[in-house]
Amino acid sequence: MRTQVGIVGAGPAGLLLSHLLHREGIESVVLENRSRAAIEATIRAGVLEQGTVDLLKAIGVGGRMEREGAVHHGIELRFDGRGHRIDLSDLTGGKAITVYAQHEVIKDLVAARLAAGGNIVFEAGDVSVHGIDGTTPSIRFRHDGESEELACELIAGCDGFHGVCRSAIPQSARTEFTRVYPFGWFGILTQAPPSSRELIYTHHSRGFALVSTRSPELQRMYLQCDPHDDVANWPDERIWSEFRARLATHDGWAPHEGPIIQKNIIAMRSFVCEPLRHGRLFLAGDAAHIVPPTGAKGLNLAVADVRVLSRAMTAFLREGRHDLLDEYSQTALRRVWRAEHFSWWMTTMLHQFPGNDPFQERLQLAELGYVTTSRPKATTLAENYVGLPLE
Ligand code: FAD
Ligand code: PHB
Repeated sequence: MRTQVGIVGAGPAGLLLSHLLHREGIESVVLENRSRAAIEATIRAGVLEQGTVDLLKAIGVGGRMEREGAVHHGIELRFDGRGHRIDLSDLTGGKAITVYAQHEVIKDLVAARLAAGGNIVFEAGDVSVHGIDGTTPSIRFRHDGESEELACELIAGCDGFHGVCRSAIPQSARTEFTRVYPFGWFGILTQAPPSSRELIYTHHSRGFALVSTRSPELQRMYLQCDPHDDVANWPDERIWSEFRARLATHDGWAPHEGPIIQKNIIAMRSFVCEPLRHGRLFLAGDAAHIVPPTGAKGLNLAVADVRVLSRAMTAFLREGRHDLLDEYSQTALRRVWRAEHFSWWMTTMLHQFPGNDPFQERLQLAELGYVTTSRPKATTLAENYVGLPLE
C-alpha cells in the first residue's frame, strides 16, 4: 500500500487532517486501532470554540452541528453560593461556543471521509512507524490477520496520549513537560432536562462541580473526585447528594435529577511534548499535548494543530516547500502553551487541593471575585474560552 500521508488515529485530529488534505487534493490513509462503532460511541468533549465551529462549517461538515448543537453566549461561574454570568459574546465582539458532543463530530467526519472515497482502516492492530529519519517512512500494521505496510511521504501521529507515535521519537530528541493534578473528574450522563441555559463552573469547599449539557433530554455533569476512586463507590443517590451540596445557591437552586446512564472517572494532567516533529513524523492533538478539561480546550487544540499541519503538508507535497513544515512545531506550540496556561489557571482557580489550605481558598475566591467584577479580567477568560484567533 502507498499513500502521500499516513495518519495514525481516527480521533478529531486524524479525521480532520485527512479531510483537510483531501480538499487540497492530497491523498491519505487513516489507521485506527478501534472499530468504527467504538470511536463513534466514546463520550468525551462537548465544547467547540468559535474557530472550530467556523472551520467545520467552511469545509462542509457542519450541517448537523448547526442543526443539533447549542450555541451558548455565556457561562456561569458559581462560588459562595452565588452565580455570576460571564457574557462571552459581549466580551469578545460577538463570539460564542457551541455545545456539540465530540462523538457527533467524529460521526460527521467519518461520514464525510467515506462519502468522499477516503480510506479509514478500522481495527488496525500492532501499528508501528518506521524510517522517519529518512525520506521513505512507512507504517506497519495488522489487519484481518494479515501484516501490511503503508509506504508514505509524511506521517501524522494523531493517536492520542496513549498512542505509539510519540514514543517513536527518540527520547534524546524530545522534551516532555508534565503536571499531574491530585484530583480527577467524575463524569455522568443523566436523562433529565437541562438544569441551566448555560454551563455552570462551580467552586465549592467540597470540590469543583460542572453542569454541562448534550441535548434537551440528556445532560453531562462532572464532580471533582479522587482520581483513584472507583465508580462502584458512587451509587446514584451519593452522586446527586454531592451535586446538590456543591451547586446549592442562597436562592434555593437545585439541579434536575434523572436516571444516570453513564459514569466514568477522568484523570487530570497537563502535558506537552516538544518538538512536535521528528524527521517525517508530525504529532498533533493529544498525542503531543494534554490539558485538564476545565478550559474545554483539548479537542479545539487538536483542530488548531491539524489546520496548521494540513497547510504545511500541502505546501510540501504540492510545491516541495519545506518552510511551513519546518515552522509547524513552533507555530502550533505557541497556541498549545497559551491553552496550557489557560487550562491550568481555570483548574487552579476552581478545584480544592488536598489539605484544603485556607490561604489558597481565599486566593481562589479573590481571583473569582476579580474575574466576575473586572471587565478586563473577564475579557481574558472570555477570549481564551471562545478561542483566540487561529494563526
Ligand atoms: P483522540 O481523540 O484520543 O484520538 C486518538 C485516536 O487514535 C483514537 O481513536 C484511538 O483509538 C486511536 N489510537 C490510539 N492508539 C492507536 C494506535 N496504536 N494505533 C492506531 N490508532 C490508535 N476538549 C475540548 O476541546 N472541549 C471539551 O469540552 C473537552 N472535554 C473533555 C472531557 C473529557 C471527559 C475528556 C476525557 C476530554 C475532554 N476534552 C475536551 C479533550 C478531548 O476529548 C481530546 O483533547 C481530543 O479527543 C483529542 O483528539 P485527538 O484526535 O488528538 O485524540
Ligand atoms: C463537556 O460538556 O463535556 C464539557 C464542558 C466543559 C468542559 C469540559 C467538558 O470544560
